[in-house]
This record gives sequence, structure tokens and C-alpha cells, in this order.
Amino acid sequence: MANACGWVCSDSVSARVMCTSSVEGASASHSRLPRFVSKGCKLVGCGSAVPSLKVSNDDLAKIVETNDEWISTRTGIRNRRIISGKESLVGLAAEAARKALEMAEVNPDDVDLVLLCSSTPENLFGSATQIPKALGCKKTPLAYDITAACSGFILGLVSGSSHIRGSGFKNVLVIGAEALSRYTDWTDRGTCILFGDAAGAVLLQACAVEDDCLFGFDLHSDGDGHRHLNATMEQKELDDAADSNGSVVGFPPNHASYSCIKMNGKEVFRFAVGVVPQSVEFALQNAGLTVSSIDWLLLHQANQRILDAVAKRLEVPSERVISNIANYGNTSAASIPLALDEAVRSGRIQPGHTIAAAGFGAGLTWGSIIIKWG
Ligand code: UT7
Repeated sequence: MANACGWVCSDSVSARVMCTSSVEGASASHSRLPRFVSKGCKLVGCGSAVPSLKVSNDDLAKIVETNDEWISTRTGIRNRRIISGKESLVGLAAEAARKALEMAEVNPDDVDLVLLCSSTPENLFGSATQIPKALGCKKTPLAYDITAACSGFILGLVSGSSHIRGSGFKNVLVIGAEALSRYTDWTDRGTCILFGDAAGAVLLQACAVEDDCLFGFDLHSDGDGHRHLNATMEQKELDDAADSNGSVVGFPPNHASYSCIKMNGKEVFRFAVGVVPQSVEFALQNAGLTVSSIDWLLLHQANQRILDAVAKRLEVPSERVISNIANYGNTSAASIPLALDEAVRSGRIQPGHTIAAAGFGAGLTWGSIIIKWG
């Protein structure tokens, strides 16, 4: 399927998960829920954590040829936080999760699933299992990682809700946490000005179907666009370890490592502005809602100009668009729960508000979800 900007989309996965609940301004007509769905799920807590080291645009101007005016005009970013010293991705993720549990008044031992959405885990095999340990859980919940770059948190919400609806889980922590600074090329002014490190978390909780708060979603991926944004594995090929007769000369091979982030900014910009409005519209359709029934548009915080362009395309006024990119830059899978947490704690997002959230980024991956807070 090709969208309005000509971007070729792979088959999408989208669903209406709304049933008998309704949102102000919209009625839930007949249910299209799969028959096995006997539970709803709601968002009952959120939290976030950021590293202590604040790096300003002026700080970056000391290491690459750039300046505050260029960065803030082209991206909206003024500061970002970078992991340093004894800080760790797991530590940030656990702090965000602890705050979400405190808000929800749920004991860590009552968590039965932890989903860590991250492309920068501290272990090749994933970091999710370390979160319950860091939270001091006496019982060990199931924990696993989800790798989907800047769309990770949206995928995490859909996965978490599916576990609740279909598998009987009750309290699911969905965490977005990233340390992209570890894969940033600090000599490339086209990328190093963009990224920051952070973690954000929500607690999804099983509830009656009538109280369900995840109304609809829309998910996509397209491996062809991978070339525009990636950090690929680099390894001496085994072929290089053989001489012309095929005899082994350099075995064992070098350990693999990942390159720094490489990005074609213009292409990624064009992709985001092209696909995100359509995805939000699909998710709204699946929820049986229209743009006028959402209180907030909460997009992955990649570039203020992307937020503005998507909002304009969807005709959402700027006062209903959540943005904290000035303070944190692009924190990949952490950006949506971090912005959600700040908006909830500052009182902008109130219980009962409907939010259209969308992520997009490497893979390429993109997707949207319509949720009600609280
Ligand atoms: O999570 C999703 C991941 N990524 C994104 O969402 C990124 C999407 N893309 C973007 O945000 C933008 O494309 C960027 C902010 C990365 C770049 O902005 P742009 O308006 O597309 O700039 P550009 O790459 O076309 O560069 C324009 C000029 C170039 O100079 P010339 O060739 O016109 O002389 C660049 O060399 O700006 C130059 N430039 C800079 N100048 C000062 C590029 N980076 C910088 C810089 N400081 N940091």
C-alpha cells in the first residue's frame, strides 16, 4: 500500500480493541473484539527517570561545528541528558518503573510481567530480567525485551495489553529506556545533536472489559527503509580468515560490535511526516473515534518540526500537542512515556483524557495507539 507521500507500507497490523466502553464524543458501536478477550486493561501509573548530566547545545558547539541557533531552529532541542558515572540503563528503567508502581500503589511483588522496550540493552541477550531484581521483587515475574527503536513503547503497550487480554496477566510494566549516547558518533553533527538518554514506564492493569482504556492501534514495519537509519553489526567476515586455498589463517574471527548510528535525516524526516498522520488516523478509525475526540497528541519526540507538521496534517491545534523535546532531545523508545509522565505529573493530562500516541523510527517501524489515561 502506498500512502499520500508515496512511502510504500508493508501490511499493517491494526485492531479495534474497544468494546462496550465509550469515550466522550464517540460511541462504541458493535464490538469487533476477538471472542477470547474477556478482560480490559487500563493505565494506572507512570514514572520516568533521566540521567543527571545535562548537555546543552553550547556544550555540543565545543565538539562539533554547530550552534544553539541552528539546533534549536531545526529541531527544537536545547538540552539532552547523557548517562555518565555509575548510572545505567537498568538503573534508569528501574527508577521509572518504581515511580509508576508508587503512583499506582502496586507492590513490586504483584507485577507479573515486565516488558523492556529498548534498542540499547546492557546485555546482548536483553536487560529486562534485571528490572525485577533492581526493584527488589521477591517473586520473579516474566520479563523480556522488545527491540523496535523509537516505536518500541507503542509495540510494548500493544504487547502488554495482549498479554492481559489473552493470557491472564494482571499487572504489566511497560518500560521504554534508551542510552543512545553509547552509539552516537560524537563527530557527526547531523546526528549527535539529536539524541539523549532516558527511561519512562507505565503500569498496565487488568480491569473489567467495560473499563478498557486501550481503544485501537495501528502498527507497521518496512525493512527496505532500514538503510536510512541504522547501527549495524560490524564483524570481520569468516571469509577473510581463509587464504585462497580455503585454509584457515585467522580463526577465530573478531568479536562483533555495532557501528554508531547512521542516519539520512532528510529521508527519515520525510518518512515520519508522511506515515505518522495516516497511522494515527487508522488507529482512530479502529477505535471508532475521530481526531476531534482526542485531548492530546503525543508523538515520539524526534524533532519539533515533525511534531508540528504531523499536528498540522491532522488538524490538531498546537496547544493539544505534548512536547518536551527542548529539554531531552530524541530519547527513542523512552520519549513517549517520559513526555506522558511529565504531562500527567504537571496536571496537563487528567484522568479520563484520551491520547493519540505514535512512534516512528529505525527498522523502519511506526505505529499508533489510542489510549485513555487513568
Ligand atoms: O527517531 C527518529 C530518528 N530521527 C529523526 O527523526 C530525524 C529526522 N530528521 C531531522 O530531524 C532533520 O533532517 C535533521 C535535524 C537531522 C537535519 O535537519 P535538516 O533541516 O534536514 O538539515 P540538512 O541535513 O538538510 O542540513 C542542512 C544544512 C547542511 O549544510 P549545507 O549542505 O546546506 O551547507 C548541513 O551540513 O545544515 C548543515 N548541518 C548543520 N549545521 C549546523 C547539518 N547538521 C548541522 C548542525 N549544525 N548540527
